[in-house]
Amino acid sequence: MRTTVGIIGGGPAGLLLARLLHRAGVDCVVLESRTRAYAEQRQRAGMLEQGTVDALRECGAADRLDAEGLIHQGIELRFDRERHHLDFPALTGGRTVTIYAQTEIVKDLTALQLAEGPPLLFGAEAIGVEKPESDAPLVRFVHEGREETLSCDYVVGCDGSHGIASQAFPAAVSRTYEHVYPYSWLGILADVPPSCEELIYARGDRGFALHSMRSPSVSRLYLQVPNDTDVQDWPDERVWDELAARFAIDGDWRLERGPIASKSVTSMRSYVHEPMRHGQLFLAGDAAHIVPPTGAKGLNLAVSDVRVLARGFAALHRTGSTELLDRYSELCLERVWQATRFSYDMTRMLHARPDGDPFDHRVQLARLRRITVSPSAAAELAANYTGLPLPL
Ligand code: APR
Ligand code: PHB
Repeated sequence: MRTTVGIIGGGPAGLLLARLLHRAGVDCVVLESRTRAYAEQRQRAGMLEQGTVDALRECGAADRLDAEGLIHQGIELRFDRERHHLDFPALTGGRTVTIYAQTEIVKDLTALQLAEGPPLLFGAEAIGVEKPESDAPLVRFVHEGREETLSCDYVVGCDGSHGIASQAFPAAVSRTYEHVYPYSWLGILADVPPSCEELIYARGDRGFALHSMRSPSVSRLYLQVPNDTDVQDWPDERVWDELAARFAIDGDWRLERGPIASKSVTSMRSYVHEPMRHGQLFLAGDAAHIVPPTGAKGLNLAVSDVRVLARGFAALHRTGSTELLDRYSELCLERVWQATRFSYDMTRMLHARPDGDPFDHRVQLARLRRITVSPSAAAELAANYTGLPLPL
């Protein structure tokens, strides 16, 4: 098998890249190790920056997003039993965010790709990338029990946080940066209308809680829990009681409860792999960087990586210029580190430290208070949350 761009991974990064390349007339093949059913039900993020929505619209993949996505004008911060609304359009000159689940994006892009191409192979597990320094790199993969080879001009690893593409970078050229946080999130999906209009980020002595949503009838909520937490220790009643306690304010507000459809614990870390290109091999999305979910940047960063990459390949196809591709790593890493910093700051500002350090607690409250009294501090948060401009 032969193609111009071999894409490893059919998550949002790989699927959107394939769609953008297809529209630009660049041929590609996507190898996805999982089944379609598995990839389409995996629960992931759901908050889209304006630029992410624009990218999906521009490539004709936003019909359902436009019909079902929930546009949000801001977020609410809760601390000290008070609520504070941040008005994004007012703080950013008109920017908003949209709630639309990543699983739905994967479904939409998969359906388009299966209908219009380029090829997308499920159950195709890449096991190695060879000769990334040459102009004919190879992806070795296993499909239907047989080992096969995909010959490419370029290979893009969109294979997520446990992918294999980054292993083809020689140790001498790779540098990785990692930070592990001393807490995890217990996330639930509940069949109950959201108890709020905007997302609520709540900081309290009992720990952080987030109220998000998936639709007018489905809520998504998270609780900060210790790193070794077993979901078995969290029966539904305990989850709801803890959420209610963490969102409690002085004043009239109630958390609606309902049946919990799924429950899982996710650990939190920051990770960056530099550079994001070696020879003819590129990394995009979670394969190159992980952020903790507090700022909702993971999916949006994956989208901005592949937008830059697709423009680079389109320019190469149209004019023969590799200039943009040559700057890919440098352009993306600038934005990656800004999102890494923002996610780190949001995480540290909102989570209770396991050791309960009282000094840290007061500094967190001072930070939150500053955001609620200083328009420039609020504008800084809003600019990062709604998304920094694409580096092009
Ligand atoms: N061969 C083929 N496919 C692979 C391989 C492999 N060796 N390893 C992993 N994959 C597939 C996974 O099954 C998955 O479908 O690569 C895909 C990676 O998708 P994601 O993990 O979703 O990563 P990405 O596309 O970068 O999406 C960005 O942002 O919100 C965050 O973590 C969240 O998934 C989200 C990410
Ligand atoms: C989500 O809806 O899953 C979500 C929203 C905002 C976050 C993290 C997760 O910061």
